[in-house]
Amino acid sequence: SRMSHIVNTDVLIIGAGLAGLSTALSLPKSLNITVLSKAALEVCSSHYAQGGIAASLDKDDSVSDHVADTLVAGAGLCTPDNTASILGAGQQAVQWLCAQGVPFTQNSPNALDNTSAQEFSQLQTSDLHLTKEGGHGCRRVAHADDATGRHVMDALTIKAQAATNITILPYHEALELLTLPIASSQPFFTNNSDAKYCRGALVFDHINGRPLTFHSRAVVLASGGLGQLFKRASAPNVCVGDGVMMAWQAGCRLANLEFIQFHPTGLALDDSSFLISEALRGEGGRLYCPKTGVRFMLDVDARAELAPRDIVARAIAAQIDNNGLGYVHLDVSHLPADFVKAHFPQIYQTLLTLGIDITTDPIPVAPTAHYSCGGVVTDANGLTDVPGLYAAGEVAYTGLHGANRLASNSLLECVVVGRNIADHLPQYVTRLANAEKMNNDAYRDINQSVIESWSVPTLTDAQSIILTDTLFTASEYDNDDKDDKLSGAEADMTKITAALKVLMTTNMGITRSAGQLEQALTQIQKWQVSLASTELGQQNIIKNDSPTNIHELAYFQLTRQLALATLIIQSAYQRMESRGGHYRHDYPKLSDIPRASVVEPQREPYQQ
Ligand code: SIN
Repeated sequence: SRMSHIVNTDVLIIGAGLAGLSTALSLPKSLNITVLSKAALEVCSSHYAQGGIAASLDKDDSVSDHVADTLVAGAGLCTPDNTASILGAGQQAVQWLCAQGVPFTQNSPNALDNTSAQEFSQLQTSDLHLTKEGGHGCRRVAHADDATGRHVMDALTIKAQAATNITILPYHEALELLTLPIASSQPFFTNNSDAKYCRGALVFDHINGRPLTFHSRAVVLASGGLGQLFKRASAPNVCVGDGVMMAWQAGCRLANLEFIQFHPTGLALDDSSFLISEALRGEGGRLYCPKTGVRFMLDVDARAELAPRDIVARAIAAQIDNNGLGYVHLDVSHLPADFVKAHFPQIYQTLLTLGIDITTDPIPVAPTAHYSCGGVVTDANGLTDVPGLYAAGEVAYTGLHGANRLASNSLLECVVVGRNIADHLPQYVTRLANAEKMNNDAYRDINQSVIESWSVPTLTDAQSIILTDTLFTASEYDNDDKDDKLSGAEADMTKITAALKVLMTTNMGITRSAGQLEQALTQIQKWQVSLASTELGQQNIIKNDSPTNIHELAYFQLTRQLALATLIIQSAYQRMESRGGHYRHDYPKLSDIPRASVVEPQREPYQQ
């Protein structure tokens, strides 16, 4: 039984990024809302978003043009209905952000005095300056300089902190969703007869080092992506796919996990996760091979530097591999210096402090893991397979991003789906209250709810994956190193976490093959076996409980990362084609029929 402290709230929102705060601020004030942030509030991908938010705002643009561009980038895997519905709400979403006081860059900088959020809240979408990014047929990206995410999040955080019905809890990490079986007498769940519904979450409070149980009427997963499973990533280090795994464990389907989008131009300086926005290429930036001086994109695609992201990322990776380089050059020195400083103040300043003046010097760039196009299956209103559980933002799969997300569509999706959830969730809460009144058992049960134990997926014969005996010899992967100064389970866990990132980047990176993926699965299985044999592993098997202290938490986090990595690799393994962001050396062609790959809860992935 669980001894953890119980906290009651109407709506629990897991994640304080753009999806989470858009939902929180759009829900009725009568609902008591708790928003959890795994670390400090600004440690979320939304905060670091540079380019902006895509919407058809220009008078010569249209929703159908935006949809058409999105479908082209998505390479046959976008869900057309959801795509049209989400993009169709673009203008309203940006107008809502204006009303929250986001200081968007304007067409004519003197339209307003620009001195306060009050004045920014008067902005109309027709006042906004629009920038261009790859794959968009016209200027379509609203932005706040080159730090859109920071400005948007600052404005929304101020609003959320001021709202008396919203409590924000930083350093609270959600671990598992609390679900209850649906009693057959509960009429409002008719179309989900075999299922469970979501009624809260188990959370680790890092401030006090203790587990907490949150009981809520509904849960919104807005926990972000999983880029930090890779060695180079643009996301902050908390983004390891917790939400995807919590939803999967609770009974949700996951889709298209293999479609990890690599951003072509991460800053290639040490382990920096700083992004060099696509908007630099949108405004004329060019890519060169530092060795040959060739502007290589001209030979690759008619759209040159503004070809879809997967094409540019693969071309850069090929330059790097073929020439034995660590990076290529992105150059904006041919653009007027004043223009560069005015449009990209954050990038200009950040790089200046690193010794690079972008008005005169080229920028070293290389691809970086950027966005998970797949995730928890939802509709355009954020509803998952589990009643009472909603998901929005990078954790979710609405089908908008298909096989390759179009730049700046993700911030839009956060706002639109977050606000759609806020429209639908109150009705659910009312129906739940009525149903639970009729069937008191369910409500009583929550205080002694049984959470199904966490089980790590392991490989079975049924998957017919032939495991090779080839294990890594590189020292980075070698856990049996006798000279190792580190010792004990925790040191091993730190090493495995780091080694997993290298493994994912090397074998599950921009290009893949069956051999690489089999090798990766074998290695992960080896780590799983070795972890299970540690003292923590043995304890975990006996206790079959969620973590109660930081040692157990570290074990829980790592086993979950290995489980997610396994699902991603299996999805990539079973997609025997190349499409959008998924490129297989051994299957370079597109298959005839576009299919989403769906991972059923607690079962193995298959192609639907
Ligand atoms: C960028 O600024 O290049 C990122 C835009 C995006 O990923 O949507």
